[in-house]
Amino acid sequence: MTALADHDSIRAVQWRGDVLRLLDQRRLPAEESWLECRTAAHVRDAIADLVVRGAPAIGIAAAWGVVLAAQTGEALTPVLEHLRAARPTAVNLMWALDRMRARIEAGADAEALQREAQVIQDEDLAANHRMGALGAALIDAGSGVLTHCNTGSLATAGYGTALGVIRAGVAEGRIERVFAGETRPWLQGARLTMWELVHDGIPAKLIADSAAAHLMRSGQVQWVVIGADRIAANGDVANKIGSYQLAIAARHHGVKFMVVAPSTTVDMATPSGEAIEIEMRDPNELLSIAGVRTVIDGASAWNPVFDVTPASLIDAIVTERGVIERPDAERMRAMFDPS
Ligand code: MRU
Repeated sequence: MTALADHDSIRAVQWRGDVLRLLDQRRLPAEESWLECRTAAHVRDAIADLVVRGAPAIGIAAAWGVVLAAQTGEALTPVLEHLRAARPTAVNLMWALDRMRARIEAGADAEALQREAQVIQDEDLAANHRMGALGAALIDAGSGVLTHCNTGSLATAGYGTALGVIRAGVAEGRIERVFAGETRPWLQGARLTMWELVHDGIPAKLIADSAAAHLMRSGQVQWVVIGADRIAANGDVANKIGSYQLAIAARHHGVKFMVVAPSTTVDMATPSGEAIEIEMRDPNELLSIAGVRTVIDGASAWNPVFDVTPASLIDAIVTERGVIERPDAERMRAMFDPS
């Protein structure tokens, strides 16, 4: 199947031998501009500033940051720590850096680290295709889906997690209606998911986040399909702020709730969602829209950018290893910690 038939043509993280090219997600959809990172510090800033975002993509970018540091002869232990601190919630960042650290400790040189980063990126793309097939198989023909945030090619090595399921479901003719929530405050749904869907020829409708429950009641969606930043050992899922309220509304309306994430997002060392650090970002992201202040001067805001959906509200967690229906600690352990 060609990339085009798969509705998949975007690659936002591109390695060029001694420079990391990142499609600047702060500027989409108005502008398709690329940022060139030549140092690990530059990659760290690009992750913190959301030039590159989405759990798998920030892990991949950080791995390339380590390669840049090795190429320029930097001391690698402080670089690993600096990159690790770029964002707190998505465990893929820590996972990728731990994997690079293991190679460094085994004596890998810059060339070997470059091969490792490429494997991390390639494995993510392969996982996404596998999850696309597994997740789409759960969806009945003629269904409608609602997604949140951006979980597509922009957020991964390519194809996407939840958006990969949507790509596969549309290609297979199972999904007939796609809705994307705006995802305030940073508008990943409006600015990024709609850009990807239009770019790759998937018809979709944008909704205000506050329209989700009304949409569910209308009967137009049978599944909510989202990604994850960290999945705890009991199946609780941290994802973009607003995911939790979608899960509550979905359960109320008999709409099913699917979380799609590679095994690199699973953190069996975190017992439950309560132990996941939720990133707090600059209140100005909420007090403005697209750089234009919308709230009276002197007003303040509370801006957590992730929330935790309890496992009890989730119908299926889809990873490249398989599907866990009605996740709980025992089912998670059976798939991710079978010893
Ligand atoms: O703040 P962001 O844009 O990095 O948040 C992204 C999300 O919450 C995604 O849903 C998650 O990382 C999965 S991306 C495949």
